[in-house]
Amino acid sequence: MGIDTLRWPNADYSRVPYSVFLDPDLHAIEQERIFRGPVWLYLGLDAEVPNPGDYITTVAGDTPVVVVRALDGSVHAFVNRCAHRGTLLVRNQFGNAKDFTCVYHHWCYDHTGNLIGVPFLRGLKGKGGMPKDFNLADHGLERLKVEVFASVIFGSFHAAPESLGTFIDRPMCEWLERFFAKPIEILGYTRQRIPGNWKLYVENTHDGYHAGLLHQMSTTFGLFRATEDGGIKLDKGNRHEVTFSIHASDKIEESKEAYRDTAWFEAPHELKDPSVFDFIDEYGNNMAANFCTLFPNVIFQQLANSLATRQIRPRKWNEFDLYWTYFGYQDDSAKLRATRMKNANIVGAAGYSSMEDGEVGRLCQIGIKGGANDHSVIEMGGLGPIGTQYTTVTEVPIRGMWLNYCKLMGIPVANAAAA
Ligand code: FES
Ligand SMILES: [Fe+2]
Repeated sequence: MGIDTLRWPNADYSRVPYSVFLDPDLHAIEQERIFRGPVWLYLGLDAEVPNPGDYITTVAGDTPVVVVRALDGSVHAFVNRCAHRGTLLVRNQFGNAKDFTCVYHHWCYDHTGNLIGVPFLRGLKGKGGMPKDFNLADHGLERLKVEVFASVIFGSFHAAPESLGTFIDRPMCEWLERFFAKPIEILGYTRQRIPGNWKLYVENTHDGYHAGLLHQMSTTFGLFRATEDGGIKLDKGNRHEVTFSIHASDKIEESKEAYRDTAWFEAPHELKDPSVFDFIDEYGNNMAANFCTLFPNVIFQQLANSLATRQIRPRKWNEFDLYWTYFGYQDDSAKLRATRMKNANIVGAAGYSSMEDGEVGRLCQIGIKGGANDHSVIEMGGLGPIGTQYTTVTEVPIRGMWLNYCKLMGIPVANAAAA
């Protein structure tokens, strides 16, 4: 089934056709209509390029991108592709450079992507050289629009995207301002390759229902339980989400009852080092699990005191990379920093409470094989209007995510007239 014949099964988005995870052709269309379309993409953090000449290599969808701070302090992003013959221009993950020289024929670019040098431009010994009218100014790197919000660097390929503040919207803007209220310090990176479609991961981060079930370490050792007060806030376009949960706000009897059929909760599990789940209430809101997902490519994470961004890097229809950037605040006390570092064991590719998210992506991708005409069922939380939920036992935000996906992709609803 191609994009032209794809019809969404129903108007409340409570059914998701598995073909959206199985169709290899959709990958290229998503790159055009979403990642090169009218969205802002997470590219990195301001703190990754603190000084003039500092750069990181990243991606915007599947397009390789360089983010660099110029001499005047401004931040720029351009496609990491030499304008001559397409060679990957910058090969390091990060560094500092006075300019960027392609390895192939040494074309050289400045920090803003201008072509500033072409070897043998006028030839040698009166022979060769570029045509007389070859103009360096016509052969710069492809640039992205760049804006920085609350220390986060966003880029867009679109000629006229909506303003970044409108795109992020409330309450996500306030959430990011709080998250990045103080100068941060990058603590490190991890990355993992997940053999599943990237949208399975975005579904997962919009899915409160799974959190108190799949993540048994968190539930068993009290980092997060579905019985705690919490919810998922959506923006008015229902495209992004903020998940929050008030730590230990449930009664132990209540959670035992809710989980009574789940043997592991009652079993006498013990941690040899319980400090891995230590939680210091550094924001004064008693939230040990607080996430923000901006569609399509980033999750901001606070789990206990582990802080990170997770960038989604689609590679093909059945594979994506998840790129984790861990950070703390520059004014962290030694105790807080040590807790953050220990909490980092909970997250990442092998994290006690996040490896499962990658694994279920893999399992879904395997399970739906041969199911292009089948669909998933998204009804937890009810079929009513899509909007903020004051419970985490809900899948309603996933329906918002698909509504937005269909808008961007131009996928109509099969029975729109009847809806
Ligand atoms: S491909 Fe980069 S200089 Fe030729
Ligand atoms: Fe999860």
